[in-house]
Amino acid sequence: MAVSTASTGPFIRAAINGLPPYSAGRSVRDAAGGGAVASDLLGLAANEGPYGPFPAAAAAAVECVHSANLYPQSGFRSLRGELADFLGVGVERVAVGAGGIALIHHLSVALLDEGTTIVTGTPTFHAYALDARKQGASARTAPVRLDGGYDLAAMLELVDDLSRIVYVCNPNNPTGGIVTREELLRFVDAVPESTTVVVDEAYFEYARSTGYPDTIADRAFHRPNLVTLRTFSKAYGLAGLRVAYLVGSPALIEAVQKVQSNYEVTSVALAAARASLPEADELARRVELNRAGRATLTEGLRRFGFPPIDSHANFVYAEVGDGKLFAKALEAEGIIVRPANAMGDPAGARITVGTPEQVERTVEALSRVAGHVGPRRGSTYR
Ligand SMILES: Cc1ncc(COP(=O)(O)O)c(C=O)c1O
Repeated sequence: MAVSTASTGPFIRAAINGLPPYSAGRSVRDAAGGGAVASDLLGLAANEGPYGPFPAAAAAAVECVHSANLYPQSGFRSLRGELADFLGVGVERVAVGAGGIALIHHLSVALLDEGTTIVTGTPTFHAYALDARKQGASARTAPVRLDGGYDLAAMLELVDDLSRIVYVCNPNNPTGGIVTREELLRFVDAVPESTTVVVDEAYFEYARSTGYPDTIADRAFHRPNLVTLRTFSKAYGLAGLRVAYLVGSPALIEAVQKVQSNYEVTSVALAAARASLPEADELARRVELNRAGRATLTEGLRRFGFPPIDSHANFVYAEVGDGKLFAKALEAEGIIVRPANAMGDPAGARITVGTPEQVERTVEALSRVAGHVGPRRGSTYR
């Protein structure tokens, strides 16, 4: 057999060689060197819930650690069944995975061949395009609307025979805007059946508002080519445990289950998620605190000259002039926020809504950095 002497190392697929290294943005764990998180440093860059797991979930996780010598339940059947009851759907419509990021990866592996495309908005959650590129597929993007919601009419223009997935991030990360039930229904009616619509509702719990669709409860969205993604990472405060779910077309759910690794969700994460589901009052309390904090943060941004977009999630996006400079100025104040350059908008930044005290501290810091950084006078978002 002829051996090529030109080789300089192991063969790596061209799609992977061409990828930029993953950049998650700076976190409080980075600032703390991966160790204990300094109590005076405020991490508002990752849209984590600020309150930790629900007390019942923390207790269940601690209890479960004692049996960590055992593998998790195969097929995650208990959590899938409890989610099915909680959501009022059949269990064949439910998959769980190690976070929404893992489920987006599985959908990409199951649906995307080399040369196919995904269609999505910009700026938006980076994983959609990144996971497409890992498969040798590419992303077509339509700019989001000025209110931060997806421009579904513009996206429809980008859908063709090569389009395997259309992602609708609702509310959109990082802009916080939504599309309404009527807009989304019109869109899914027009998308061909061979193209899967993934509705990413990572921030669903925060978004309850007039016109916002619930694509799991609303039977009009039960289609052979539609799945909805939700996560325990945000309103349920379990980002560090990695557990999320997909609900929708049984054929798509089965495809994802074939792709995912056995036992990818840990027993501790499964226990915490199961204990969280019945805690409706605690969830409502946190959602209400977020709503109030979001209003205060939005008003503070506006007052100090950073035009914000009205948000339906647990973060607020604003025009800040130069996102990186803005983030640097706030880090000097002990607050880590997310510049949006890596998401396709160098003039934007996203700030997570913290506890009431954290929001107050953020607004005070905004008042101090306002003289040094910011958009041109009289600017509105984009
Ligand atoms: C829009 C969106 N989808 C999915 C996720 C994935 O979350 P996780 O992997 O923590 O479930 C995130 C996380 O930030 C997100 O913003």
